[in-house]
Amino acid sequence: MGAPVEDVLDRLEPPVTAIVIDPFLVWAVGLGNRRNIPVASLWTMSPSVFSVFHHFELLHQNGQFLLDFSGDLTAPQGPAGYSCKNPSTVTVNDFVSSALDVAVNTSNLIKAAVTPAFAAQFPGLNGLGISSARIDFAPGGVVPFHTHPGGSEILIVLQGTISAGFVSSANTVYFKTLKVADIMVFPQGLLHFQVNAGNTVAQAYVSFSSSSPGLQLLDYALFGNNLPTELIAATTFLDSAQIKKLKAVLGGTG
Ligand SMILES: *[C@@H]1O[C@H](CO)[C@@H](O)[C@H](O)[C@H]1NC(C)=O
Repeated sequence: MGAPVEDVLDRLEPPVTAIVIDPFLVWAVGLGNRRNIPVASLWTMSPSVFSVFHHFELLHQNGQFLLDFSGDLTAPQGPAGYSCKNPSTVTVNDFVSSALDVAVNTSNLIKAAVTPAFAAQFPGLNGLGISSARIDFAPGGVVPFHTHPGGSEILIVLQGTISAGFVSSANTVYFKTLKVADIMVFPQGLLHFQVNAGNTVAQAYVSFSSSSPGLQLLDYALFGNNLPTELIAATTFLDSAQIKKLKAVLGGTG
C-alpha cells in the first residue's frame, strides 16, 4: 500500500508537509521518516480502547499472551520466546517430550546432572510459563548455589535425601533436609542449592514458573570466566591464591 501513496506524494503540488495516519497503517511512519515529513497518528476510538491494544502488545512482549499453544524452534527467539507454529502443522508430539529420559552421567565436578526440559528442549512449553527439569545426584553430589532469573522453582524428591535451601534478599537462610515425596519451593531469582544428604544416589524433579527460567551458577559466574583476579578479590574479599585455585578448577582465566 506504501508504493501508490509514495507515487501520489511525488506528484502533489505543493509538496506534502504533514501526514495524518490511522495508527494501524504503521508503514506510513517509515514513509514519513524517509521523506522527512512529520507523521501524526489519529486515534478515533476512546483512550481505553487504545489502552487495551497497548496492553495486548505488552502481554505479547512478556510471553503472557493468551494463546492455546505456540513454539517453533526453527524460528528466531525474541524476548517473548519462540515464534508460534502454524496450528495446522501441530501434532500431539509437540506436547510430549522425552527430554528428561537421558542416560545420566554424574562423573563430573559436582557429581550431579541437571537435565532441563525448558522451551529450548521442549518447544511446546513456549509461552505457557512452565517448564521442568530432572536432577540426578551421585553420593556427594551437589547443585551449587545458583539462581533462575526467570522463574520460581518447585522441587519434589523422588529418591534419596536432599538438603536444599535458599537465601532471601533479606539474607535469611531457609534450608532443610528433604525425604522422598517432600516438595520445596525456591522463589524466583533467589540463590539456592541442593546437596545429596545421603550415601546413595538421589533424584529430584523440578518445575518452573517460566518456560525459559534460565540458570546462573554463582561459582561459574565468579570463577569460570575471564573476570580479573584482582577485581574478584576486590568484590569478594577472597585472597588471590584461593581465586586462582578456583579459576583453575572451574575453567576461568585471568
Ligand atoms: C561419564 O563422563 C565422564 C567424564 O566426561 C566420561 O569419562 C565417562 O566415560 C562417562 N561415562 C559414561 C558411562 O558415559
